[in-house]
Amino acid sequence: MHETIAAPAWVMLAYLVAGVCFIIALRGLSSPESSRRGNRYGMIGMAIAVVTTLVHYAPHMPGQTGLAGLDLRFVAEVAAAIAIGAGIGLVMARRIAMTAMPQLVAAFHSLVGLAAVAVGAAAFLNPLAFGLTDAATGLIHVNSRVEMGLGVAIGAITFSGSVIAFLKLNGNMSGKPIILPLRHVINLGTLAAIVGLVGYFTQDQAPWIFWTVIGLSFAIGFLLIIPIGGADMPVVVSMLNSYSGWAAAAMGFTLQNSAMIITGALVGSSGAILSYIMCRAMNRNFISVIAGGFGGGDVAAGAEAAIDRPWKRGSAEDAAFLMKQAELVIIAPGYGMAVAQAQHALREMGDLLEAEGVNIKYAIHPVAGRMPGHMNVLLAEAAVDYEQVFELEDINSEFARADVAFVIGANDVTNPAAKTDRSSPIYGMPVLDVEKAKTVLFVKRSMGGVGYAGVDNELFYRDNTMMLLADAKKMVEEIVKSMG
Ligand code: TAP
Repeated sequence: MHETIAAPAWVMLAYLVAGVCFIIALRGLSSPESSRRGNRYGMIGMAIAVVTTLVHYAPHMPGQTGLAGLDLRFVAEVAAAIAIGAGIGLVMARRIAMTAMPQLVAAFHSLVGLAAVAVGAAAFLNPLAFGLTDAATGLIHVNSRVEMGLGVAIGAITFSGSVIAFLKLNGNMSGKPIILPLRHVINLGTLAAIVGLVGYFTQDQAPWIFWTVIGLSFAIGFLLIIPIGGADMPVVVSMLNSYSGWAAAAMGFTLQNSAMIITGALVGSSGAILSYIMCRAMNRNFISVIAGGFGGGDVAAGAEAAIDRPWKRGSAEDAAFLMKQAELVIIAPGYGMAVAQAQHALREMGDLLEAEGVNIKYAIHPVAGRMPGHMNVLLAEAAVDYEQVFELEDINSEFARADVAFVIGANDVTNPAAKTDRSSPIYGMPVLDVEKAKTVLFVKRSMGGVGYAGVDNELFYRDNTMMLLADAKKMVEEIVKSMG
């Protein structure tokens, strides 16, 4: 261990309090009821960490000590930079459409990665100021070199990977997997070179090694993400989220900042767990997502094969009539509800039905939509009562006693092929048992429009299914009108 620049006790304590706030925040974010409170704890923790860092690291006026002696110009400059950043973040977060949230998150992760590279580079260029040099030799401590090397490598991968994820999700780049010849050889070779160079960096702190690690890491971030199809991108974003956490934790060691180590580890591990949960709920193997090449096209072979089969078309009036007669209606929202922004109209419909004495429940599949919690966020935005919202495992047994399952813009998450057809790409994915309801109403725009997995849904052709073909918002608005 090298000697540390011991932080005063109050700084350690403040960082610890910030860390505890972050843990409570994560705990709170685990359920919709407590998520606002959780967010508040996160903000308090971050405010404590930022103010502590600012006060602790701000230089003093010559010959002065204590709070009163702080160089206020420095404090004002940093505070101005924070205010500008916070202002930009606030405007972006307010303007962003819910459906564009994944790319916003990707864009923010790229900044975390870049910040880690910038901090690593600053520490490398001026190790004395960071207290990273050995007094006897004047060289950078070996363990600091490991932390720095790993931190900038992970940061650079996060940066270039997130930029590609952003471009794909935002439609600036084709969402199709871009498959390079020999990509596995190139990727493994580049990764091996990065690991080898970080190892060599512990023996020799020559600048070329440091900068080559950064250059190769930028390249590998790019190479790793371009073969991944747009539809798998949410898993990638969550994985990059995890990387950004590890990069921050590595930099926390370099800066000897315990708040950064705690926060980085929390982000790193929660991102990794989320990626795993998403893969499991999508029945995708994590390694095959990372290896790429899946989920490029929205329409897969066989998607249109069954259009000729007979099916029943219903109208808004039919739907209104059926639901008004029902005792229990379970609403299963999916990606189409998000695209159509139908959540407000949907809540209005639910409220009207409740007023008629119908019991309304919402069934949320863990990967309905295109990002974790997508449906929960939209329903919360429309002020749907949390008490009416149920997770898949809590509601599935209730479909059998429901009079109507109202499936709005959801497709894959209701597809029984996941339970029965071994050859289906979604085989094994847990699905909502909507077909067990007496009547299933499917709101979507066309018979041919498949979901993310690109497969037909046999439920459209069942006797107890009625297709309500229209844009989700328009259809629900019409149903509301017919109920009036
Ligand atoms: P999907 O299976 O993607 O189906 C969406 C349906 O919405 C389509 O059938 C589409 O049919 C319809 N639709 C689209 N726009 C519409 C509009 N304006 N009005 C009415 N309907 C509209 O959605 P899902 O059931 O929510 O399943 C999610 C899928 O995404 C799963 O396969 C999941 O694995 C995958 N996925 C999820 C995540 C996360 S974390 N949520 C991440 C990555 C991938 P039309 O074109 O005919 O309208």
